[in-house]
Amino acid sequence: MITETQSETDREIVNNAYYDTLESWTDPNVHPVALLRAEGLLKNQWVVDTLRAEKLSPRSILDVGCGGGLLTNFLAQEGYQVTGIDLSEPSLAAAAKMDSTKSVVYRKADAYDLPFNDGEFSVVTCFDFLEHVSDPNRVIQEIMRVLAPGGLFFYHTFNKNWVAHLIAIKGVEWFVKGTPSKLHVIALFIKPKTLHKMLDANSFALLEERGLRPRLGLSFIKMLFTRRIDKNFSFVWTKYKTISYAGLAQKLR
Ligand SMILES: C[S@@+](CC[C@H](N)C(=O)[O-])C[C@H]1O[C@@H](n2cnc3c(N)ncnc32)[C@H](O)[C@@H]1O
Repeated sequence: MITETQSETDREIVNNAYYDTLESWTDPNVHPVALLRAEGLLKNQWVVDTLRAEKLSPRSILDVGCGGGLLTNFLAQEGYQVTGIDLSEPSLAAAAKMDSTKSVVYRKADAYDLPFNDGEFSVVTCFDFLEHVSDPNRVIQEIMRVLAPGGLFFYHTFNKNWVAHLIAIKGVEWFVKGTPSKLHVIALFIKPKTLHKMLDANSFALLEERGLRPRLGLSFIKMLFTRRIDKNFSFVWTKYKTISYAGLAQKLR
């Protein structure tokens, strides 16, 4: 009898198949990915600034659900030794193509079953990912396993409430050209307090958490009328975690 894996079951819930259709993660006409790129500008710099402020030069970083390598390649350019895993082969190929350092190790792997030894990484990043799996606790368990004691876990995901549903799901479907159905589903969004319980149960201490929202400027208004994400579209940090939030946790032991 053939049994479905958890990640195959996830594909029936959320549109993870979409990422297999992406040959390029830098095409300005692929607007849902342009949105991810705009978000990445803020989050990627935050990771590097945090590592530098803590005077950390991590041995190795693992990017879980790296997609087209928006963060992975950025970290490699900043001089870090990075591994990116994802289930989408076309996305991994696009990521490798854009790796100007040619140093990133890209590997097809399932976040539920990471093909690495215990304690192999000093930092794990996981952006726009936990809302793509139906068992985030199992993924966090795996992340905890592959992190060295004292290792850092950077994450970004979406809050679960009607505002996030309206803006991050419905708003994106209405106002961002080319958004496929079920790109995100409210059932997989996670309330911060639910995530905190998972972190706590997996021996992580929460160090910091902050909210994220689009900047309400000209590019935002243009999007409402054209359904296009232009190159100046940007995100800003906010103390409100209503729509989405990014955090940093440390493995205790
Ligand atoms: C929204 S994208 C995020 C990509 C990247 N982290 C970023 O922020 O640009 C989600 C990614 O998760 C991948 N994915 C979904 N389920 C996965 C799993 N179980 N294991 C590994 N990757 C998975 C998808 O293929 C997709 O590339």
